[in-house]
Amino acid sequence: MPPKSPLEGELIRLRSHEPEDEPYFHRWIHDPEVTEHLNARYPYSHAQEREFASLTSTYQNATFSVVTLAEGQLIGNVSLRNAVPEDRSCDLGIMIGDKEYWGRGYGTDTMRTACRFGFEMMNLHRIELEVFAGNDRAQHVYEKVGFKVEARRRQAHFKFGRYVDVLVMGLLEGELR
Ligand SMILES: CC(C)(COP(=O)(O)OP(=O)(O)OC[C@H]1O[C@@H](n2cnc3c(N)ncnc32)[C@H](O)[C@@H]1OP(=O)(O)O)[C@@H](O)C(=O)NCCC(=O)NCCS
Repeated sequence: MPPKSPLEGELIRLRSHEPEDEPYFHRWIHDPEVTEHLNARYPYSHAQEREFASLTSTYQNATFSVVTLAEGQLIGNVSLRNAVPEDRSCDLGIMIGDKEYWGRGYGTDTMRTACRFGFEMMNLHRIELEVFAGNDRAQHVYEKVGFKVEARRRQAHFKFGRYVDVLVMGLLEGELR
């Protein structure tokens, strides 16, 4: 049997960004429900989103559009960013922007697929992310796939007129569940 694609999970497939993804990215980044717990504050222009939609993946910034395996429907994006070869470490950012797909396992599958890609295809040793305290759904998903809370940056983020703590979470090679 041929090997399973490293870009495929159980529910989703990671593919490159495409120019036609731009309207989706632009809509999601201006949806206050989607960005409630994201470091997105100022409006994004279509030009900025076109630039994001035109990014191709490199070791330093492996960035993917997330589509459903069943219909090829675009539902989000995920990036393994700022990889440092000496440390074999990078940051991860995820957004399932299509709210119709929340709570149906797509975020978990995207996390597993992206992290597996990081370990098995990029030879990473460590993947790190930040999550705002109170983003309980995201934290639950990260813990479910094996991330551990490593630090709490107290009152590190200010939005909606109040400070929130920022949790630093990490996943090491061999810990992905
Ligand atoms: C966070 C996000 C990636 C999760 O994706 P998702 O597809 O909704 O997640 P899943 O359906 O795979 O899993 C959700 C899990 O959280 C649980 N959950 C839902 N709401 C919760 C809450 N308020 N508190 C704790 N757990 C919660 C669900 O029960 C489920 O866990 P289970 O499978 O053990 O039952 C997605 O909602 C998203 O992108 N949100 C907007 C952007 C964002 O916050 N990105 C993360 C920034 S750090």
